[in-house]
Formats: sequence, structure tokens, C-alpha cells
Amino acid sequence: MRADDETEAIGWAGRGESRLPGFYRLSIEERRRALARVIELGDEDARILETGGLSADAADRLVENVIGIYSLPLGVATNFRVNGRDVLVPMAVEEPSVIAAASNAARLVRGGGGFVADPDEPVMTAQIELLDVADGEAGKARLEAAAEELMAQAAAALPRLVDRGGGPRAIEVRTLPGRLILHVHVDCGDAMGANMVNTVAEVLADRAAGLAGGRRGLRILTNLCERRRVRVRARVPVDALATAGMDGPAVRDGIVGASQFAEDDPYRAATHNKGIMNGVDAVVIATGNDWRGVEAGAHAFAALAGRYRPLSTWRRADTGGPDADLCGQLEMPLAIGVVGGTLHAHAGARLAQRLLRVADAKTLAMVIASAGLATNLAALRALATDGIQRGHMALHRRSQEPVDG
Ligand code: MEV
Repeated sequence: MRADDETEAIGWAGRGESRLPGFYRLSIEERRRALARVIELGDEDARILETGGLSADAADRLVENVIGIYSLPLGVATNFRVNGRDVLVPMAVEEPSVIAAASNAARLVRGGGGFVADPDEPVMTAQIELLDVADGEAGKARLEAAAEELMAQAAAALPRLVDRGGGPRAIEVRTLPGRLILHVHVDCGDAMGANMVNTVAEVLADRAAGLAGGRRGLRILTNLCERRRVRVRARVPVDALATAGMDGPAVRDGIVGASQFAEDDPYRAATHNKGIMNGVDAVVIATGNDWRGVEAGAHAFAALAGRYRPLSTWRRADTGGPDADLCGQLEMPLAIGVVGGTLHAHAGARLAQRLLRVADAKTLAMVIASAGLATNLAALRALATDGIQRGHMALHRRSQEPVDG
């Protein structure tokens, strides 16, 4: 490491910003020292970073038949600015180049003012299946007429959530062949909310079946939490996109073309979305959240219009002209929390959340979506220029070197 790298890095961290030039050239120890200027990192934190933050005992309480701990690298993506605030983004991921790609793309987006994100309220939905309903229309009408009673019963099952300002918000009745489906929409506050929503489904099912004039079937949340979406936009100054071999407008047009390819072809959309999930999952995992739920929601949402679509699109800025900037946008459902779940057991996830300095689930969702748009941009830029193998394989080769060799 060059002496000025560390000075530069530590100078950055001392200012609480996310530009950290030279961070990648530091040793692990030096990176931790740089982070210690942003959040307090004591001896216990250093131990957590060394071991991953989950003891075998804690793991044994978390799941069944435990025989050990499975580890992943934890890194920090730099350069992120989301809604005008700098943020260091913890990422747990085994794939080489994802964290470098996120950091590089965040630097490009930063040149255009940073990511601009807006989240929905953190509303999750319970599904109660009602079977053998003799008269579907009359059953639906009775359920709708009893909305207030059902919501009050749901609220009574979640007193602590209601005290914190969350709770049931609305019901909705859907008709499917052979069944009615009662949806109960619940604002889960800063929790992911699966347990609370499943509780609501179970508590209301008998009364709902009685009102519908049928019998209860499944009672469980839906991971297609379409009311809990987050949107993020990015603008990249066209010249910043240039590479050694291509000028900015050519790279921009290549990225726009790659977006169009994904919009027209579900085979390409799947890979495009994989590039988004590289960033999304890494932050979801680092922060102790349920990445299977996030994945299920993302892909169901991508297919909601009847055909699988990319979660993000890229266009020329509508100022037009050859020098128009590149604009991207992403929208996806994100069921994540900053309280509850595995957080009580996982010191590593708690540390990652401290590093982010986000106090609420909506802000975390905006950072996660920004990470997804960043890894997507980096992948499309690589694909539109040198191809993915050049940068990816250089880092991949590094990962194959023997640790002691
Ligand atoms: C590899 O992990 C992700 C990419 O395939 C994404 C993409 O093709 O857009 C590079």
C-alpha cells in the first residue's frame, strides 16, 4: 500500500463520506482502521469481522442439526450516494468482481448526483384461502362489508406493531377458480414482517371462512409484496462512460441497446436481473435479511405483466442530442427489515447495519435497490465494451490463488 492511499482513505472516512479512493489497495487491517473512523469499532467488532459474527452456539439456536458455520466474504462497496447521503454498503458475496463493480458504477452515478430512490410504505400481505364457498359473490360482499371488524381483529393480534405506528391497513378479496382469497395488507414498520403477517393470516382465517360461507385453506404471507416496492433512478454523465477503446456516447448506446434486448427477450432478462440481484442479495445477506423471500418477490414481480421483464431499464436522457446522459431506473419489491429476524442472533448482520447507519427499513431498501442498479450498470457497461470476461476473469484468477501460496 502507498502511504498516501491510507491517508486518503482515512481522510475520507473521517469526513463520513463514501468516496474512499485507494480503499481497495489497503490491507484488511488498514480497511478496518479506515472504517473505525466512521463507526466505532471495538475489539469485539474486530473479532466479529474475523469470525463472521455467528457462534456455533448461536447457530444451533437459529436452525436445526447444526454442525458448523458457513462463511462468506464481507466487503464494503464505496462511492455510494443515495438521496444526497453518502453510505458505505456492506456486501456479503462469494463472486469476484461484484463489490468492485458496485463501487465503480456508484462512482459513475455519483458524477450525475447519486442515486435517487423512493420507497413505498413497508406493507406486506397475508393471504387467506377460502374453499368450498357456496356463493362466491355473496361471500366476497360479506367479507368486504366486515373489513373494519377483520382489521380490528388483526390489529389486536399485533399490539406492539400498532403501538409503533404499524398495523393492518386494508383488506381485499380476490376470486380465483374454486376459491376466494382474502388479502390483508399490513404495514410492518421496520421489520420484514413475515411472522406478523403469518400471525394475521392464522388469526383471521376462521372468522373469514365463516363470513365467506366456506372453509379455510392456506394461511400465509405472499412474497410477491407488490405494495412494498422501491424505485431508484440514476443518471450518468455520458463522458464518464468512456473506456480506452470506446467513447462515452457509444458506450451509452450500447447500454441502452442491452436494456432493449432484455426488454424484448426473457432469456436475456433473466441474466440482466441476475446482474441486479448480484448487488441486491449481497446487501440483503450482509444485513441478515431473507434473500430467498427477496428473490421470490423480485422474479414474481418481473413476470407480473404476463411475461418476464427486466427489473431495470436504461435510456438516453430525454434532453436528446448526441451528448445526452445515460439514465437508468429500477423498480422491485423489497421485503427487508432492520429489526427482528436473525438480527438478534447474528452479530455480523448487526455490525453491517451499524456500518450503513440506516435506522429504518425504508432507507435500507433504497440502499439495497441502489446496489442492484449499480451492479446492473457495471455489468451492462462491461458487456457493451470489453465483454465480461476481461475484468471478471482477472479478479477471478486472483480468487483462485492459494491463500498461503
Ligand atoms: C454475472 O454474475 C452477471 C452478468 O451476467 C449480468 C448481465 O449479464 O447483465 C454479467
